[in-house]
Parts: sequence; structure tokens; C-alpha cells
Amino acid sequence: MTGQLTLEDYLRRYSETAPDALAVAAAVDAIATGAIEIADLTGGGHLPDALGLTTGRNSDGDLQRDLDLQADAILRRCLAMRPVAAIASEEMREAEIGDRGARICVAMDPLDGSSNIDINMTVGTIFSILPAPDDLSIAFHQRGTAQLAAGFVTYGPQTSLVLTLGDGVDIFTLDRGSGHFRLMRRRVQISEACEEFAINASNRRHWDTPVRAFVDECLAGTEGPANHNFNMRWIGSLVAEAYRILTRGGVFLYPSDARPGYGDGRLRLVYEAHPMAFIMEQAGGAASTGRERILDLAARSLHQRVPLIMGSSNEVRRVEELNCDPLLVASVSAPLFARRGFFRL
Ligand code: AHG
Ligand code: MN
Ligand code: MN
Repeated sequence: MTGQLTLEDYLRRYSETAPDALAVAAAVDAIATGAIEIADLTGGGHLPDALGLTTGRNSDGDLQRDLDLQADAILRRCLAMRPVAAIASEEMREAEIGDRGARICVAMDPLDGSSNIDINMTVGTIFSILPAPDDLSIAFHQRGTAQLAAGFVTYGPQTSLVLTLGDGVDIFTLDRGSGHFRLMRRRVQISEACEEFAINASNRRHWDTPVRAFVDECLAGTEGPANHNFNMRWIGSLVAEAYRILTRGGVFLYPSDARPGYGDGRLRLVYEAHPMAFIMEQAGGAASTGRERILDLAARSLHQRVPLIMGSSNEVRRVEELNCDPLLVASVSAPLFARRGFFRL
């Protein structure tokens, strides 16, 4: 592993490429430093005496665990030493203004998938880096296309950093011996062939008909219009699902549904969907609400939720098709037209 480029060297090279690049590189380096600390905390299980404890609820009503708050504090401490104009976090009601003269702003989900902490499953950190506008009150209301960089870290069997600086996606893995992230995969491309789908199927009865139709197509496998078989996965950590999709393709859906409070799905636009969408597109995939490209959206409020369909572009496009065409949905749902239906025994 020692021969691989370190994140520091990679960022040093990048920092010379554009006016904002030095600030972006400094922020990514700070997040990576914080991530090593968070990896130690999550990896220590009950030893640090913080694992899985619930302390309250965040401004959005989600349960907040002690580790959510510790991860937030670690990252903000690391970022405070760098030129960052404003920071937004899932764990803070309002964005925090920092160095007003700085060129960039950072939005983050310090610990994604925190309901997985106490069952020893992968959790992670998600971040998005945006240019600092003159009026910092609109810093986190920019379209996703404005992002300068985005990434996430997975704290699983490996601690890995997935990063896009707007020119492809590269993956670094923490070399625990030396304490450095090292470049392990360059220019990751999402496989066109999609053989896995991920959705919380316990919500099936609450889904809209296009989402049901899409999942029905996946379940029908070779006997339906998709004409190939799918496997199913649901981890409950967006970071782990995204990592899997970058590794072996697939599609992830957290759609809107009819439960109270889920009219826009569950995931947050600014620090979950935007960075994931940037990464997916940079890896040749797609990310959509099912109707609109995620990167074209601008948040009206900091913690705004959004339906998120991401992964292999053919499948994301198929969900969009089903959303736009009620006749298509009807044809998928009607057994008469199914591949093994009335006309095709
Ligand atoms: P967070 O822990 O930051 O609130 O995010 C968890 C998210 C995401 O990682 C995951 O895909 C989803 O919530 C799981 O939601 P359900 O428990 O509703 O399936
Ligand atoms: Mn999250
Ligand atoms: Mn979180």
C-alpha cells in the first residue's frame, strides 16, 4: 500500500489548478483529518463509552446520537482552522458563519446512517463544497451544479474516502499503519449493467404507483420488461449504498411516500442528495427526484428533504419514464401486457 499516492500529495497537485482549488484542498484535508478521528471513535465500539447513546433530536426531528454530535464537533473543529466562509450541518439548525473573506462554504452530514451505529454496520460522513457568494445568507441555496467538490467517507471494515473535485471520482482508503489516506481507485465508473436495487420495501404500501411499478419490474426479473434478474440490498446507510453502487453498479431509491412527513422523501438536499448526485454523475451515473435532475435543484431551506433515485443511469431514467407516463405504469401493472401475460404464455 505504501506505493500509492497519498491524499495530501493528490490535494497538493490539485491545489495549483484553479483559483478556488487551494481552499477546496484545505477543506478536504480538514475533513479527512476529522474522518480519521471519527473512524477511531466508531471503530472503538463501546470502548470510548459513546456508542449509540441517544441524546435528543435535531432540528428536523431525527433522533440524535451522541456520536452524531461528536462527529459534528470533530469536523467543525478541523474546519475551523481552514479558510471556510460558512458551514452547514445536519446537526445545526442554522448555518454557521466563519471566515467571511474565504472563498468556499461546506455543507455536511457528519454521521450518516447513525441508526446503524449500535449494530456495528457501516456509517459515514458526507460533504459538499460550494463557492462562497458575496451574500453568505444564500450560500446553501445554490443549485447542485455549483458544487466545487463533494465526497463521503465510509466507516466500515475499511475507512474509505470517495472524492470528486469535478473531474471524475477517485477513492482513497485509510492506511491505518501510517495514518494516511491512499489512492486506491481512480476515475471510478458506475457499471451500465444494473443488477441490484435498494429500497426500504417496508414502505411499499405508502409508495406512489410509478415507484411500485419500477420495483415490480425489478422483482419480475427475466419475466418482466427489465428482462434480467435483480438482487436486492438495503443497508440503511446512504454512504454504504453509494459505495456499493460505485463498486458494482445498481440503483438506490428513497422516494417520497404517503406517510406523514415523507412527502419529499427522507434525505436532505444540501448535504445528502447534492453531494451524492455530483458523485454519481461524475462516475457516469445519474441522480434524480424521479422527475428532475437533483443537481438542477436549489434548496429553499437548509434542511429541505428531497426524493432521491441514484445509480446506474438506465434505471434512474426508467423511474423518470414511469413517473412521466401513467400509461406506461398501467402497462407494467396490467398482467395482460406482462411478458408472461395473456399474449405471451
Ligand atoms: P441520517 O442517519 O444522517 O439521518 O441518515 C440516514 C438516512 C440514510 O442513510 C438512509 O438511507 C436512510 O436514512 C434510512 O432511512 P429509513 O430508516 O427510513 O430506511
Ligand atoms: Mn444522513
Ligand atoms: Mn447524519
